[in-house]
Amino acid sequence: TTIEWDIEAAEKAGYEHFMLKEIHEQATSVHDTFAGKLSELDGSVNLEELNISDEEIRNIDRIEIIACGTSWNAGLLGKYFFENLAGIHTDVDIASEFRYGNPIMRHNVLSIAITQSGETADTLAAVKSCKAYGCSSIAITNVVGSSITRVVDSVLYTRAGPEIGVAATKTFTAQLIVLYLLSIRFARARGTINTNEAKDLLIELKRIPGKIQKILNHKAEIRECAEIFAEERDYFFVGRNVNYPVALEGALKLKEISYIHAEGFAGGELKHGPLALLDKGTPVVAIATKGHVYDKILSNIKEVKAREAMVIAVAEKGDTEIEKYVDHVLRIPPTHEMLAPILSSVVLQLLAYYTALARDCSIDKPKNLAKSVTVE
Ligand code: G6P
Repeated sequence: TTIEWDIEAAEKAGYEHFMLKEIHEQATSVHDTFAGKLSELDGSVNLEELNISDEEIRNIDRIEIIACGTSWNAGLLGKYFFENLAGIHTDVDIASEFRYGNPIMRHNVLSIAITQSGETADTLAAVKSCKAYGCSSIAITNVVGSSITRVVDSVLYTRAGPEIGVAATKTFTAQLIVLYLLSIRFARARGTINTNEAKDLLIELKRIPGKIQKILNHKAEIRECAEIFAEERDYFFVGRNVNYPVALEGALKLKEISYIHAEGFAGGELKHGPLALLDKGTPVVAIATKGHVYDKILSNIKEVKAREAMVIAVAEKGDTEIEKYVDHVLRIPPTHEMLAPILSSVVLQLLAYYTALARDCSIDKPKNLAKSVTVE
């Protein structure tokens, strides 16, 4: 009815879609996620909702992350955070696989469920089975009082505000921030990073909202790029290390809302199959932010260019070298290697959004998909 339409228009606050509104909200929502939880003066992270003692944190033998969809991609990044910062072996499983597998679980395995809605049936079932093994459990969720919160020992809220668009955007970046904070908290308790290192990580985190705003200010460039390739049949995303989950999430966003066939790969896997799919002009998004594998992704870009594919790089402002090898560059402000995925993901969300817009797709309600999957 007319009344409903008016309410919806008001809720969109002038944006054409909820997804675009929610992408923009990230300049403030990421701040809400970490507000009040860190002190860059002494490098401490205060997560009072966490019901685990420092001693228990020191005794964690392994972390088992369980999630579905975009939350699973966030979990893959969590693995880099926990392993690099806190030195804790971390596995990341798809909930529907975990629950019907035969996982080797002991009581000092910590399970972390990541679920925006807190209602995903497979994730709930998988976490319940972890409890049966005697493991302590944490949920990272956006919905206060959701089902998952009644199953776990500790709940960490992402505080991103309600997300209406089916494709997760602001809740994904919020999940990354919670995982980052948690890994720093664990690292401090285990003594794997010192005060100064923690301070640097937290100071840089505080700069992320402003850096997201800078990306949003230049969204016209992302739109132009999206429109060039909007009629392509296939789209590939490659990244290495922390940028590998970014590639997976970039591909997921694009396929969900534009219906273009999109796949993400680890750079080193290109020669093990994906290169066979490249034709002249196929768009390949390479996430090429500065870090210890920068040269490696450059080699991948050269492999792709040799097949005459079109390379769109996501790279840092000031990186002039990348321009020699690629066809288009989408920029992010320079940041810490482990925080760059947050900024690159915002770029890829906008790329997916503007591609779907150019294709006149039903952006907020993609066909065949639901916001929360409460049945198997
Ligand atoms: C659905 C949604 C995705 C989401 C996934 C997991 O497929 O469309 O956006 O990532 O479920 O949902 P959860 O609420 O558990 O994060």
